[in-house]
Amino acid sequence: MSDHDQVKMVPMNYDKNRPKAPNPVKIEDLSLRDGHQSLFATRGRTEDMIPVAEMMDEVGFWAIETWGGATFDTMHRFLNEDPWERIRTLKRYIKKTPFSMLLRAQNLVGYRNYADDTATAFVDRAAANGMDIFRTFDALNDYRNFETVVKGIKAAGKHFQGCICYTMTEPRMGGEVYNIDYFVKKAKDLESMGADSICIKDMAGLIAPYDAYNLVKALKAAVKPPIHLHSHFTSGMSPMSHLKAIEAGVDIIDTCMTPYAYRTSHAAIEPLVMTLLGTSRDTGFDIQLLAKINEKLEKEVMPKYKHLLDDSKTSIIDINVLLHQTPGGMLSNLVNQLREMDALDKITEVYKELPRVRKELGQIPLVTPTSQIVGIQTVNNVLFDDKNERYKMITDQVKDLCYGLYGKTAVPIDPQVQKKALKGYSRGEQPITCRPAEVIAPELEKAKKEIGDLAVDMDDLLIYAIYPVTGKKFLQWKYGQEEPPASVQPITLEKVKKRDALVKKALAGELVEKKKEAPAKSDNARVFNVFVDNEFFEVSVDPQGGPPVINIAQSALAMPAAPMAPMAPAAPAPVAAAPAPAAAPAPKPTPAAAPKPAPAASGKGKPLNAPMPGMIVNYAKKVGDTVTQGETVVVLEAMKMENALPAPASGTITAINFKSGDTVPKGAVLCTIE
Ligand code: CO
Repeated sequence: MSDHDQVKMVPMNYDKNRPKAPNPVKIEDLSLRDGHQSLFATRGRTEDMIPVAEMMDEVGFWAIETWGGATFDTMHRFLNEDPWERIRTLKRYIKKTPFSMLLRAQNLVGYRNYADDTATAFVDRAAANGMDIFRTFDALNDYRNFETVVKGIKAAGKHFQGCICYTMTEPRMGGEVYNIDYFVKKAKDLESMGADSICIKDMAGLIAPYDAYNLVKALKAAVKPPIHLHSHFTSGMSPMSHLKAIEAGVDIIDTCMTPYAYRTSHAAIEPLVMTLLGTSRDTGFDIQLLAKINEKLEKEVMPKYKHLLDDSKTSIIDINVLLHQTPGGMLSNLVNQLREMDALDKITEVYKELPRVRKELGQIPLVTPTSQIVGIQTVNNVLFDDKNERYKMITDQVKDLCYGLYGKTAVPIDPQVQKKALKGYSRGEQPITCRPAEVIAPELEKAKKEIGDLAVDMDDLLIYAIYPVTGKKFLQWKYGQEEPPASVQPITLEKVKKRDALVKKALAGELVEKKKEAPAKSDNARVFNVFVDNEFFEVSVDPQGGPPVINIAQSALAMPAAPMAPMAPAAPAPVAAAPAPAAAPAPKPTPAAAPKPAPAASGKGKPLNAPMPGMIVNYAKKVGDTVTQGETVVVLEAMKMENALPAPASGTITAINFKSGDTVPKGAVLCTIE
């Protein structure tokens, strides 16, 4: 075997105590963050990390990623776990290996730029709770959004890892925007900001092996900090890209333990260990120890999660990402969103519209939150636009982007789209060019006033400041003000075994279905005429407890505008609208997160129907308020994007049927106006 650039063969010794290689590739393990975020909708619980924590500490990883990205969101929203507590708990088991977190720069662990006071406090608390390495990225690669958090990271004496989001406009690296000069310039910017290491963040698995080679070579020649490659497996190229990057001299590679590897996650560590064994870049890892960790995970942990795996396809590679360059999480989010709106047949149109929207919005990289911003706007355009008008329903986040609130885009935003988005925009119709946080007023004092004593310390306050609606709900669970729903309870291995046994029995045909005999029709039975399109059905309704309630018929009539309203007969039950954590597929939303059915519309007048499933952020009006047509009445969050819904008519609000934090199905009557 011949030598390849940086990789030299050394005398063979496969013992676990073999001598250290001259320049071992350093490895960061992502199983406990990106791994379960990519494969299991970020649902990993702390209690399921503890069984392997001590063993993982023995492997010799350069770092273990334990936090950040969607974990903060999912933990407090779906798992009833305090995100801060996870760092402290894992630190008790993982004592030697540094912890790494993914920090969305001024977006912190949320989906918008927060004020400087929130950003400073967040970094300070993350460091104090035990975070060592801050992998920092900005979705637009606008490093002005790094300024505040980097100051905090440095002040806390922690490791600042600066990311360059890897993205392309061509089938391979190059073209006018994202070429090698672009990435080298970004790396130099990071070096001059004091980056302790530089990460190529390839969130969609787009980097091709020879591009990885050329890029790493160029970066190693241009800057001093160690170069780190984070490349998702999604397209299937990453193991090859890893090897070429290693040959080019990359310092650190990201991998996962096997049960958390592949698909939209990362390549597994074990094949890489064997690949490099006996070379100058040998990791030095004990393959037996890795096998032991995997066995424990397979037996004690994975049974609780495997139902979350998207098993709709046999292929573990998504070739769409090679064709459309969209990150895996974004794709599954789009598919889920379309499915929930009964519009899955529009997916081809979405693929066609997506590059157009991206270009019009400044050819931005597709990573949280920009992947959601571009994705949802694309879906809105496909569903609501017509021949005469594009961008009919612009999300608030696109308006913010057009205003400059996320930062500077790689190329200018289409002026026409920008003008339309900023018409009547609350902050002003003229976009800004300064660092975005400069126009964001301090938030913490206001948040403290709003949440009051429910936030006991700064950690609590930050949960609320970053996630006002779900954060407040979590604090109410945490301090016993509200009973947490059953859906947030962990599942035990025993329950999993019972469930599996039942499935096995069913598959073997050993379950006998009990048939219910039809009860006799009572005098209370009433006949209803039901019309579906042009078909007519006669339905008898016989309530089990007393005479029929006429309201039901009225509420069905109150939703004439939605042909697929959830109350129409034969329509499927409303799908859980729980927004998928960003960049993470949520293949099967837990039934417990199911929305409350739309209550009978009590108000008279014209209804405002939810155009999509989502969560109510707030109502801008209350009952009795007068509104003019087109005025914002309610803000609905769908897949993290906030949609300001306008009044369908002028008049007085006669009823408001939900409250902040409620999850609503498509077609739900949010309020009525007369
Ligand atoms: Co990632």
